Amino acid sequence: MKEKDADLVPGFGGLVSRRDFLKFCTLAAASIGLPLSMGAKIAEAVEALKRPPVIWLSGQECTGCTETLLRSTHPTVDKLILDLISLDYHETLSTPSGELAEDAKKKSMEANRGKFILVVEGAIPTKDGGIYCKIGGRTMLEILKATAPLAAAVVAIGSCAAWGGIPSAGPNPTGAVGAQEALGDKFKVINIPGCPPSPYNFLSTVLYLLTFKKPPELDAKGRPRFAYRRLIHEGCERRPHFDAGRFALEFDDDGHRRGWCLYKLGCKGPETYNNCPAILFGDAGARTWPVGTGCPCFGCSEKEVAFTAPIPAQASMRFFTPSGAPYGVDEAGQPRPGGQTLSITPPTSYPPIAPPEGHGASAVTAAVVAGLAGAALGAAGATAIKLGKKEDEGAKGSGTEERKD
Ligand code: SF4
Ligand code: F3S
Repeated sequence: MKEKDADLVPGFGGLVSRRDFLKFCTLAAASIGLPLSMGAKIAEAVEALKRPPVIWLSGQECTGCTETLLRSTHPTVDKLILDLISLDYHETLSTPSGELAEDAKKKSMEANRGKFILVVEGAIPTKDGGIYCKIGGRTMLEILKATAPLAAAVVAIGSCAAWGGIPSAGPNPTGAVGAQEALGDKFKVINIPGCPPSPYNFLSTVLYLLTFKKPPELDAKGRPRFAYRRLIHEGCERRPHFDAGRFALEFDDDGHRRGWCLYKLGCKGPETYNNCPAILFGDAGARTWPVGTGCPCFGCSEKEVAFTAPIPAQASMRFFTPSGAPYGVDEAGQPRPGGQTLSITPPTSYPPIAPPEGHGASAVTAAVVAGLAGAALGAAGATAIKLGKKEDEGAKGSGTEERKD
């Protein structure tokens, strides 16, 4: 039966039914690591809001972060992003351009002083006074410094905005830096690094800001812990092959075709924090993330790895936490929940690879063997993928199912 207009959530253009909206908020709560009961609170807070204005600045970038948001085919994500907030200025998406767009930005900033969310996409060049990126005759550096003090929160989307990303790669001819470095310590920037980042990590952060009027818990690099708490290597579906010593040695060799571990092809999963194996990309089903498609993780969410370490170089297996503490303990030096440390080197003796390898251990089994901490968070991460999907579809795409090779 067609849903009545009264069942549609006002403020969402009549596009989202109340039931879907509540379901979305409940699962978003889980992805942030909150109890499911908080979903109702998120829904209540968001429904009561006048759409908060968002000013979206673009620096040195490829627009990939905007694209990842728009290319998401999740039934509600783009509607929520575009209808939940009032996107008052976005150089790619705004209908007006030139002076009209600049005027709209100025008016919005004046009318919403201290209330708007400032999103920064792209790096900020600082060399030679920042002349390598100018918008409307002003440098990006100047615009950012003038806009940030008026905002309620500053969110850096993508690795370029978080820490410089591609434009900052050596020799960094324009002196490109991230928003935090450009603004200095007076501002706390929320970083959502990735190249591109998961749109769900961005959306969940925005929902958290709108609901609780404060940033989610951040790690030492300014990243929301709910999304960047676990190593890629912990949730990777190829992990059983790593543990068993089954490695692809060349692209398109037998091991690569069979879905074996990509460590020896330069996979940086062992030193990269992100939730890609659980969240996936593009709502296109299981294995739709770099490692799932046969491409080694290049560490796009880690400043010290992506665009710095050579792509074929083998990852460090030292397992440090984002704050630099050894993996088995937290930032305060206390044992992490679950207690165990991970094995720190690939095994030295391997089973024969000639016979068929069978199903092997599931990623879940590997996780248990590895003594993962934060299992509850992992479950929440896996839940996030189900946003807007039927339960069984979500389970298939969790990246934790047994391999069939
Ligand atoms: Fe997965 Fe890469 Fe770790 Fe291998 S090294 S298990 S491919 S994350
Ligand atoms: Fe980036 Fe690695 Fe995920 S390259 S998108 S962190 S798998």
